Amino acid sequence: MITLNTPAPTAHAGILGLGTFRPERVVSNDEICQRIDSNDEWIQERSGIIERRHGGPDETVVTMATAAARKAIADAGITAQQLDLVMVATVTHRYQTPSAAVEVAAAIGAVNAAATDTSAACAGFCYGLGIADGMIRSGSAKYILLIGAEKLSEIVNFEDRGTAFLFADGAGAVVVGPTTAQGIGPTIWGADGTQRDAIIMDPDIFTAEKAGTPSVLTMQGQQVFRWAVGQMGDVCAEAMAAAGVTASDLSAFVPHQANNRITDALVKQLDLPENVVIARDIQYSGNTSAASVPLALDRLRENGEVKSGDLVLMVGFGAGLVHAAQVALVP
Ligand code: UT7
Repeated sequence: MITLNTPAPTAHAGILGLGTFRPERVVSNDEICQRIDSNDEWIQERSGIIERRHGGPDETVVTMATAAARKAIADAGITAQQLDLVMVATVTHRYQTPSAAVEVAAAIGAVNAAATDTSAACAGFCYGLGIADGMIRSGSAKYILLIGAEKLSEIVNFEDRGTAFLFADGAGAVVVGPTTAQGIGPTIWGADGTQRDAIIMDPDIFTAEKAGTPSVLTMQGQQVFRWAVGQMGDVCAEAMAAAGVTASDLSAFVPHQANNRITDALVKQLDLPENVVIARDIQYSGNTSAASVPLALDRLRENGEVKSGDLVLMVGFGAGLVHAAQVALVP
């Protein structure tokens, strides 16, 4: 039997740089409530959201991802030409094909990179980080640009009181590459397609086009809430155990910014020490799906609440239903 060559593996991978993009336009709860029967108090109490940002007509998944990518590359201290892969985690790129990643790669001049999108909704960033870590350590790539980017305001039904206040827009990028010590823990991930209808575009885009009705995001909020609170604590604990760390090693917990009450429940289940900073970016960013974890991490870094070398626990969860968690060192 023929044995094929494999690339020379690299011992360790980590996050080398981080960058984000938040659209200009701030949308208040009062503005959202002009179209749904709700109020600022209810939204803040039930979700934690004070305001969110919606992209303007010229701000697309590609432009937001590109802006975040440029910052991450500069932060990593590499050039776009050194990238081997550009990966965009998104569910809101306007085209089924070609991918957002090919446009981002072209825009930043990543002329030596392969490019692809990954679809894992709100777990997309943590899925991508797991894929990037494995590819770098196996020797398939040296530098990977991973971007979570969403323009959810284009698929939200602003008449739906279950989702209109929740979802928003933004992008967060990281450069992943070789490091002297391992900077990304094992990814604990999974999927439960039996719950595909819990968060789903309805109707599908082809039916929608024929019917002349938009395909919009629908969500069984309570079902997703119960699943997240019931399962994600164990997933987070498993991610820490797999990396050989405990809660006392953490500087911050950066869960997907889905709902502050989900975050509260996970903090309690994990019994996190008082000094562990909890990301609450949802207050000002809403739920930005694949962008939420890097956006929340960058806000902690900007505010000086975490610094380079600190250990953070991240978990993404959402439509699929899918989830992914890992610990990582802040770049
Ligand atoms: O990113 C992907 C993952 N997504 C998530 O993790 C989202 C998970 N789900 C949630 O965050 C929550 O389910 C929501 C924030 C979306 C909704 O909060 P909830 O506490 O689950 O609301 P509910 O659907 O259980 O409704 C509770 C009450 C109901 O009234 P009654 O029957 O108790 O009188 C609803 O009619 O709140 C009412 N309600 C609202 N009231 C004011 C539902 N939506 C609204 C609203 N404003 N927008």
